[in-house]
Amino acid sequence: MSELNKIALEILGNGKGILAADESTGTMTKRLDGVNVPSTPENRLLFRETLFSSSSMSNCIGGVILYDETIKQISSKKKKIPELIADMGSHPGIKVDTGAKVLAGSSKEKITEGLDGLRVRLKEYYKLGAKFTKWRGVYNIAKDNPSKLSIHSNAHALARYSALVQESNMVPIVEPEVLMEGDHSAKDCYQKTSEVIKKCFEELILHKVDLKGIILKPNMILAGDKSKNKSSNEEVSELTLKCLKNSVPSEVPGIAFLSGGQSEIEATENLNLINKNNTTNFIMSYSYGRALQQSALKFWSKNIKDIEGTQKVFNHRANMNTLAAQGKWSKEIESH
Ligand code: 13P
Repeated sequence: MSELNKIALEILGNGKGILAADESTGTMTKRLDGVNVPSTPENRLLFRETLFSSSSMSNCIGGVILYDETIKQISSKKKKIPELIADMGSHPGIKVDTGAKVLAGSSKEKITEGLDGLRVRLKEYYKLGAKFTKWRGVYNIAKDNPSKLSIHSNAHALARYSALVQESNMVPIVEPEVLMEGDHSAKDCYQKTSEVIKKCFEELILHKVDLKGIILKPNMILAGDKSKNKSSNEEVSELTLKCLKNSVPSEVPGIAFLSGGQSEIEATENLNLINKNNTTNFIMSYSYGRALQQSALKFWSKNIKDIEGTQKVFNHRANMNTLAAQGKWSKEIESH
């Protein structure tokens, strides 16, 4: 087993998942504004280190995706953040893209930037303790979108990024996110997501990326948030499994879904059903941002000194999702 394959399996094995705590300062400021907490470096660190020192880090969270600011911060107990995460039994990871910008040639779409100078930045992150990385491509569903141009250029960037990351001995998370915004049907989402993922693998193979040493982070297949026909859990599970079965090569060790605007319970319930019905050999787990942090952030914002209380809320969500990643979650367990 290669070292990268081993790390990927440590991150996602035994029902473990990923905590996506890599919000850029802009996004984190929006989240903190939403709960009336000033977005200072100290407050961003305080909330995040509260999560990173929770007990569920050892049995549920196999990896944490950090933002550049956080990977360089020191905890209140004087530990480097990547060290704190590793000491809890989890792997530190880092977001390395520099954000999605307007795509020249198709002004309503986006292309993710960050390839220039990436090799040098990767060396620095590796030295800081990162074992894996993340790059997110975004696609929106509209009449003619995602266009061939956006599908092609984002896949190309994801592949070039992945090749550089493996060269630096880290596991790349490949995240092509087809957004939930819009009035499209689940079938539209299925078709577009399948096209997007297939193109990503075509480019990954062309760039000689070792597929055993990556983690795929896709969206689930859902109707758009403005669609009249909301997807049932059964439909999400059926279409998501069908899409991944048909578009992901069997070498890929693990798939970790993003939550993409689903509520905490929806994201857990859908993941659970996907695992109950999973007849593939892929691990199907989670790499949630909002769906792991929302309740904890809300609680913390009102009880900023109550570390234990905040951790209790976070531990519950992490435990529920780890059960869901094994198809063992139920509404009864959720409410006890
Ligand atoms: P959400 O789970 O909030 O969609 O965030 C996951 C993520 O990392 C998006 O890039």
